[in-house]
Amino acid sequence: MTAWKNVTAIYQVYPRSFMDSDGDGVGDLAGITSKLDYLAGLGVGAVWLSPVYASPQADCGYDISDYRQIDPMFGTMRDMELLIERAHELGLKVMMDFVPNHTSDQHEWFQAARSSRDNPYRDYYVWRDPRDGAEPTNWVSLAGGKAWEYDEASGQYYLHSFMAAQPDLNWDNPRVRDEMHNILRFWLDKGVDGFRVDAEWPISKIYKDDPLNPNYAGDSDEYGSYLHIHCKNGPNMLRYMREMSDVVASYQDRFMVFEYYTEPELGDEIAQYKAIFDLNPRVAGPFVFDMFRMEWHAHDRAARMAKLYACLPQDGRPIHALGNHDQSRVATRLGDSRARALALAQLTLPGIPTIYYGEELGMKDYQMPAGDRHDNFLEGGGMGGRDPERTPMRWNNGANAGFTTGKPWLPIGDDVAALNAHAQLDDSDSFLTLYRDLLHLRAQHDVFRNGVYADVDVQNAYVWAYEVTDGSQRMIVAVNFADQSQVVNMPGKGHMLLSSDPTSVVDRYDGWAMLAPYEAAVFRRID
Ligand code: GLC
Repeated sequence: MTAWKNVTAIYQVYPRSFMDSDGDGVGDLAGITSKLDYLAGLGVGAVWLSPVYASPQADCGYDISDYRQIDPMFGTMRDMELLIERAHELGLKVMMDFVPNHTSDQHEWFQAARSSRDNPYRDYYVWRDPRDGAEPTNWVSLAGGKAWEYDEASGQYYLHSFMAAQPDLNWDNPRVRDEMHNILRFWLDKGVDGFRVDAEWPISKIYKDDPLNPNYAGDSDEYGSYLHIHCKNGPNMLRYMREMSDVVASYQDRFMVFEYYTEPELGDEIAQYKAIFDLNPRVAGPFVFDMFRMEWHAHDRAARMAKLYACLPQDGRPIHALGNHDQSRVATRLGDSRARALALAQLTLPGIPTIYYGEELGMKDYQMPAGDRHDNFLEGGGMGGRDPERTPMRWNNGANAGFTTGKPWLPIGDDVAALNAHAQLDDSDSFLTLYRDLLHLRAQHDVFRNGVYADVDVQNAYVWAYEVTDGSQRMIVAVNFADQSQVVNMPGKGHMLLSSDPTSVVDRYDGWAMLAPYEAAVFRRID
């Protein structure tokens, strides 16, 4: 099988929404397996599944009650084994989501822990006495409300950085770390090729109040009203992350991607990325969410990317993502042309890009009526309202877009006739064709996966341009951030390999090139 360093891209499957094989309206493992050929045809090299473990589904599976079981909603352990087997036959790697920070409150550890103060599992979680009859610190939860829940029976509070149904594990307890490492080993032994590590920023904290955010104008006790310098990113976070990645490193060619959001309030964001790149570069790296939190500004982009690539250790791999199940979809945020341009940039940058299901079709958020919503996170929590980006995958123009024969757990949304995989497959102007072409190019040329990034000054403030090179090949990418055509000075001569604009007629350049509004193009230098 392809080594991780040659994986073209990771594809994120949100299992509830990908393909339903049994008509209950919720996607499942057998459904995913039936669509692995589609993913192999698309040209990705790995599939990451958002959590499929046993779970009461208070946070759509990010609240796990048993890390070694598959939730019946998604199928059986046998279905998981068949999925891994079929994926490997097709040359696709499989990544599980790993949720270290918290379990479900239904997990047997938590049930035991809350049963009495001196239960041996008590210390698996974070318990504190009340402070002046109230919460032990002023921390707020990313899911909304306070981060502490009072437990009447034992007279103490427990901590939950997310929902009260997701109590934080106590990572400072070495027994917890051992348990979690053993769960990683359990799945690695089953043949899983890697993990996406969920929300690891709160696994270490300093138990003091967070200061108020002086720049926040909203309601108090909303997530943004504090500077979160104590409730997360604590002094042991990197060490615990490093230990997780060491488990992965003890197996042959496995990989771990950390869900990591840099925090402007913690200072230099590139230094924050660097600390994670440096942990264990051969086997682990952070998502780079820069491109979905970015300002739409060519110069800013160029400067940040130059700094990011300059900070990489040997073997360091940025995992660029344009979206995920927690963020508004890129085509909604930026519109089709800009989403296409960013896809070209994402898939020509060295590292391992990650595609969120449906991004390859240009899927958009769907604002469903309140009665159809499922996300239990509240808006004020900083992360709420995530259903619009989780609507079912569109396979064809049939009933429920071919996703289910039952009633889909979330509505399908509009525009299915044009926006479905079947319709886009043979349409040379479609998003899907662009993604397939880009992934094909990435598979063909190692330089896009493992090359060296360098800035290119094209003397136009509206254009971000870069070169990726491996010494023998030099590829130049130019991204026009303006809604007007731009002339750019290009280095030497080149042949165009691909453009994000299906109407582009350019096929080469000699010293300069003209880019259409929001066009991104990749050229091979030939001089
Ligand atoms: C991560 C997940 C998100 C989940 C949260 C708590 O940010 O991506 O969906 O709600 O962690 O596990």
